[in-house]
Amino acid sequence: MNHIYPIKTKVSKEQREALSKQRARLIWFTGLSGSGKSTLAVQLEAQLHAEGFKTYLLDGDNVRAGLNKDLTFTDEGRVENIRRIGEVSKLLLDAGVIVLSAFISPFHADREQVKNIVGAENYIEVFVDTPLEVCEQRDVKGLYKKARAGEVKNFTGIDSPYEAPERADIVIPTDRVPVEEAVEQLMQYILPKVTWIG
Ligand code: ADX
Repeated sequence: MNHIYPIKTKVSKEQREALSKQRARLIWFTGLSGSGKSTLAVQLEAQLHAEGFKTYLLDGDNVRAGLNKDLTFTDEGRVENIRRIGEVSKLLLDAGVIVLSAFISPFHADREQVKNIVGAENYIEVFVDTPLEVCEQRDVKGLYKKARAGEVKNFTGIDSPYEAPERADIVIPTDRVPVEEAVEQLMQYILPKVTWIG
């Protein structure tokens, strides 16, 4: 640390959690572009909100349009993208908020880094396990077509790797499980972890 002296606040994470009667957790969605991360995260956030939880959703395309607009899709750009999101998530968790994040986050080491930044006990990993062929067939944004044509470089699954998680807390095969069912499954797993017991 270089002449940096962090202050100690009078209000702790636990006190903030107690005030809003919830436990802050990070729900980290990872998967290929078009796998359904954002769709699931949006629905899950809506359900948690409807149940009275204070939430915030960090999404790749949104964050890359603002905070991280200086970053590219090279390996270095992605590493820094995920590092920053880990730090932002940590701040939001400290504020007592339930954070949902939807980033491809293709590298195992970066997801481990996020887990370390926020603390393993706060980290819930959801692998949105949709095969490349299905994502490519959906091609909602038309980016797979562009990547195949060489118009978009370093595209995940095409000319940039995706390291699938081996020990995710929850795996959702979106080509076999409908969204409503997947969200129900996620709610069942997450509710006991975020519910405040006084
Ligand atoms: S990550 O790899 O750094 O985690 P992130 O989730 O932030 O990626 O952004 C992914 C989104 O950026 C994709 O859903 C897609 O819309 C867009 N995108 C643009 N270029 C690329 C690319 N080369 N590879 C992957 N996604 C890209």
